[in-house]
Amino acid sequence: MLIRPSVPRDLRSSEITPESLYLSRREWLAAAGLTVGAIAGASALLAKRADAQQAVGTPFGLQPDDKPTPWMDVTSYNNFYEFGTGKDDPAVEAKGFKPRPWTVKIDGLVKKPGDFALDDFLKGSKVEDRIYRHRCVEAWSMVIPWRGIMLADVLKRAEPAPSAKFVEFTTLYDPARMPGQRSSVLRWPYTEGLRLDEAMHPLALLATGVYGRDLPNQNGAPLRLVVPWKYGFKGIKSIVHIRLTDRMPVTAWNTSAPDEYGFYCNVNPTVDHPRWSQAKERRIGEFLRRPTLMFNGYADQVASLYAGMDLRKNY
Ligand code: MTE
Repeated sequence: MLIRPSVPRDLRSSEITPESLYLSRREWLAAAGLTVGAIAGASALLAKRADAQQAVGTPFGLQPDDKPTPWMDVTSYNNFYEFGTGKDDPAVEAKGFKPRPWTVKIDGLVKKPGDFALDDFLKGSKVEDRIYRHRCVEAWSMVIPWRGIMLADVLKRAEPAPSAKFVEFTTLYDPARMPGQRSSVLRWPYTEGLRLDEAMHPLALLATGVYGRDLPNQNGAPLRLVVPWKYGFKGIKSIVHIRLTDRMPVTAWNTSAPDEYGFYCNVNPTVDHPRWSQAKERRIGEFLRRPTLMFNGYADQVASLYAGMDLRKNY
C-alpha cells in the first residue's frame, strides 16, 4: 500500500465490453470449430466460473447501485505483503500456503484465555453471509460477499475484564511460509487494533470465506478481520492471536508511516490522506468515480461510536 502508485490496474476487457456484444458461449465455441464434447466441457467450466461469481448473502448498508464485485477481482487484486508488495503477488505467491492446521490464541485482559484449533474457535458462533461495501484508502472500492462470524461473539465468550479497552490482532509470523516476511518492508508480524467498543459492534466480522467459499489464501485464509466502515487495510489477514489490552495497540501501517495512517482509519471523505483524496472513489469495474460516503455508508450504525471526537486528529 505504501509504495504502490494510486493508478488502478489495467482494466480487463470484460469490464469495458458490453455484454450484448459478446457471442453466446455456444456460438463462439462452435465458430472456433470445437467438438460437441469440448463444447460441453468448456461450457461446464464457464458455468463453474459463473457459479463462483454468484454472490450469496444479506446486503448490509448497500446503496441502490451497489453490485457485488466479480470473484476474479475480489480474489486477484489484493494487498498481502507477507506474499509480496504487488497487487497481483498474493494470488500467485500464496498459492502453496497451507492454512490448516490453524490455532488462534485469545489472551490478555480476559477471564477465559485459550488456544483454540480453528474449528473449536468457530464452534458456537453463527456463520453468516453478508455483503459489505469495501473502501480502500487508495481511493478504489469493491462490494464483497463475506462469510464469517461476529467478532463480538468470540470476544464475549472470552469474557473481557472491565479494564480491557482495546483489541490487538496479530498475523502468523512464519517467514518460511510467508516469504514477504524475509524483507523489511513492514515490521513483522503484521498487527492491527480496534477499540473494544468498535470490536463489539455487530458489523465487525471475522471472515472465514468469500462468495460462500472458504477464503482463498490471498484474501487472508483461514481467518481475517472485516470492519466495513474503516479503510480496507484494517482487515488484518491470517490471524493467529487476539489480545485484549488497556493500551492502544501498535498497528503495522501506523508504525511504518504515522503521518499517513492513524489508529482509527475510518472512511471519511472530508479528511484526505496525504497522497490520495478521500472525497471520491473508483469502484473496481467502473469508469466514473463516485462520491465516498461518511463511514463508507455505515454512518447510521457507527457514527455514535465517535460522538464528540475530532476525526481530523483521530484519523
Ligand atoms: N494483513 C496482513 N497480514 N498483511 C497485509 O499486508 N494488507 C492490508 C489488509 N490486511 C495486509 C493485511 C491492506 S493494505 C489491505 S488494502 C487489505 O488487507 C486488502 O485485503 P483484501 O483486498 O483482500 O480485502
